[in-house]
Amino acid sequence: MLNGNLIDLNDLPISEWNRIIALAQEIIKRPELYSEKCYGKILATLFYEPSTRTQMSFQTAMLKLGGRIIGFDDPQNSSVSKGESLKDTITIVSNYADMIVLRHPNEGAARAASLYASCPVINAGDGGHLHPSQTLTDLLTLSVEKGRLTDLVVGICGDLVNGRTVHSLIKALSCYRGNSFVLISTPNLRVPSYIKDIMSAAGCPFTEVDSLSEAIPMLDVLYMTRIQRERFTSEEEYLREKDVYRLDREKLMSARSDLRILHPLPRVDEIAIEVDDDPRAAYFRQASYGVYARMALLIRLTTPPEYPVAEPAPKQPLPHHCENPRCITQKEGYLPGLFTSGGDMLVCDYCDSRLLI
Ligand code: NCD
Repeated sequence: MLNGNLIDLNDLPISEWNRIIALAQEIIKRPELYSEKCYGKILATLFYEPSTRTQMSFQTAMLKLGGRIIGFDDPQNSSVSKGESLKDTITIVSNYADMIVLRHPNEGAARAASLYASCPVINAGDGGHLHPSQTLTDLLTLSVEKGRLTDLVVGICGDLVNGRTVHSLIKALSCYRGNSFVLISTPNLRVPSYIKDIMSAAGCPFTEVDSLSEAIPMLDVLYMTRIQRERFTSEEEYLREKDVYRLDREKLMSARSDLRILHPLPRVDEIAIEVDDDPRAAYFRQASYGVYARMALLIRLTTPPEYPVAEPAPKQPLPHHCENPRCITQKEGYLPGLFTSGGDMLVCDYCDSRLLI
C-alpha cells in the first residue's frame, strides 16, 4: 500500500506503479468484484482550477468503488474566496474526508497540502509542475495498447515547458528500460532543465526537435499536448505558439501502423478531428482507462499496509525562499522553506526549481 500521498509518482517505488497498473487491468476485466472496496469512505475533490476528466474520473472511480464524494470545483464558491489559506482548508477537509484530490494553479500545492492533511492527498495537477494520476492513466493506456512500458520511442509534442502531464510522464517512462524520447516543440516551449537532468541521469536518450512531420516515422507513441494558454504571461506570446503543431491525416501517412496517439485532453486544435477515426488514435480510450487507473489508486491508498512503513523523518526548514514566482510558497507565505541540497544549489521540495547558494 502507498501509505500516504500521491504527490509525485517518483516518490513511490516502481513496483507500486506496476501494482496499480496490474490492479487496474483486473478491474477492467471484473469491475463487479471491486464495487464495495471503498464502501463507507469519502473522497474530497478540491479543484482550484478547471477540470473535466480528472475531477469526474476520480468521482466516478470513487462511486464505482461504493464510496461517496464531497468537494468544490470552483474555489469562488468556497471559503477560499473569503481569503482562507490552503493550510486551513486542508486541515478542515481532511477531517471530513478519507482522501483529498487537489488541483491547484501553484506549483508544489499538493506537497504543501500534504504537510497539513491528516488523510492522503492526491496531486491532481499543481500548476505546470506534475500530474501523477494522469501518468498512471497514460501508463495503463500504454500497457494495454502497446503491451509494454519498455523499449518505446516516445514523441511528445506541444507545450513541453508548461505541460504537467509531460513532466510526470517523462519522469515515469525514464524509469523503464530502453525508452527514448523525441521532444517536439518550438524553442520557447522546451522541457525544463530539471526534466532533462532526470532523463540524462536515467541514461534515457532524448532529442529536441522542431518538426513533427520529420519525427513521426520513427515513433511508437505520439503524445500530443495542448498549448497551456493559462500559463502564458501575455496573450501575444500564446498566439505565437498556438497553431504551430497540428496532427492530421496527411502527417499520419508516414507513421507506423502500430503507432499509438495519446493526448491527456482537452484538445484544442492540435489534432484534427479527422484523426479521431484512425485506429491509432487512442486518446478517447485513454480517457476511459483513467477511471480504472484511479479506481486502482484509490484502492491502494485505502488498503492497510501489508508491512510496517516508516514515516519519513520531518525535514528541518531552511531560512531560504524559493524564487519561482509560481511556487506555492510565494502565495502561502507561512509555508516552511523545504529544500534538498544538490551541490552548489538547493532544490525546492515543493516545485523542483533550483536556488543557487
Ligand atoms: C491536462 C491537465 O489538466 O494538465 N488535462 C487532464 O488532466 N486530463 C492537460 C491539459 O489541460 O492540457
